Amino acid sequence: MQIKKVYLAPMEGVCDPPMRKILTKVGGYDECFSEFIRVSDLVLPYKTLLREVPELEHDAKTQAGTLVRVQLLGDNPTLIAKTAKRAEEIGAKSIDLNFGCPSRFVHHAGSMLLKEPSLLHEIVATTLDLLDPKTFLSVKIRTGFEDKKEAPEIVKAIAQEGVNEIIIHARTRRDLYREEALDWSVLHGLWDLAPNITLVANGEITSYEKAQECAKISGCDHLMVGRGALMVPNAGHVIKEGAEPFSNDEILRTVFDFMEELMTLKFAEKSVLDRAKQFLGFARRQNESLGEFFKIFCKMGSITQARELLSVNMAQY
Ligand SMILES: Cc1cc2nc3c(=O)[nH]c(=O)nc-3n(C[C@H](O)[C@H](O)[C@H](O)COP(=O)(O)O)c2cc1C
Repeated sequence: MQIKKVYLAPMEGVCDPPMRKILTKVGGYDECFSEFIRVSDLVLPYKTLLREVPELEHDAKTQAGTLVRVQLLGDNPTLIAKTAKRAEEIGAKSIDLNFGCPSRFVHHAGSMLLKEPSLLHEIVATTLDLLDPKTFLSVKIRTGFEDKKEAPEIVKAIAQEGVNEIIIHARTRRDLYREEALDWSVLHGLWDLAPNITLVANGEITSYEKAQECAKISGCDHLMVGRGALMVPNAGHVIKEGAEPFSNDEILRTVFDFMEELMTLKFAEKSVLDRAKQFLGFARRQNESLGEFFKIFCKMGSITQARELLSVNMAQY
């Protein structure tokens, strides 16, 4: 199946503005997402939204011209809707509501709300009421809280006129990230419940072959890639055009560029090193031959050392 769109997933603590800049430059992604922005007890100020999504000052696009969708997380329909409106006022072209996050630190929000379809319905309806119909609205969910049998009820609650996409991580909240729990086939049974809405499949898409398998099983030609984008930074090109996945050399170059970007933004030395190690830590899961290099890289105590090591090895791979 020809895949039409590949999105770079929201990943808190990973896919921040510098990571979005680097990955959208090389990755072939059709759109990327902000990390979740928590809406707790007030309508978020414009400055908070601009801090989280600085791309809003540039037509809501990364330097490569990739649109950034603003993701909000919370449980109060009015506060979420008004914050979404503010994001729209300062340039957001697309908003995503997060009902998929399983974090222990997120109490009554994210995937916890999958237990309450009527609240999901209200949050989506209130947001739709306030937003300009031209603003694209998506909702990101898992297939259930306890059980994937819950998926139809959840989708019915959010499939309202005006919603453009439903992005589905094919696991329940209870499954967390258990590999064997992933089930793209659940999505296949949901199309009839949301006839005018595009379903986007997500979960463990890390290669052209996996993307094809997912598309076949789920019926989706729109896919979202999260951790896979750190393993295969050019995943959008790989999945849509059958491009060769980045070589180790190209992965190390991407990590190098990421470090440069963090340094330009004046991130602290420890943070630059930690983020580079995090990136490589994901990359070596798919590229076993990076394992040895990763072990050595983890011992680097300064940016100078780390950059030198990357430079020398980039040339060798
Ligand atoms: C470190 C990390 C942070 C994440 N943060 C978010 C987030 O802010 N918002 C969200 O909707 N999902 C978040 N997710 C979930 C991903 O968007 C995605 O749904 C999940 O990782 C499954 O896709 P994958 O197998 O392609 O990684 C996060 C996942 C990871 C690994």
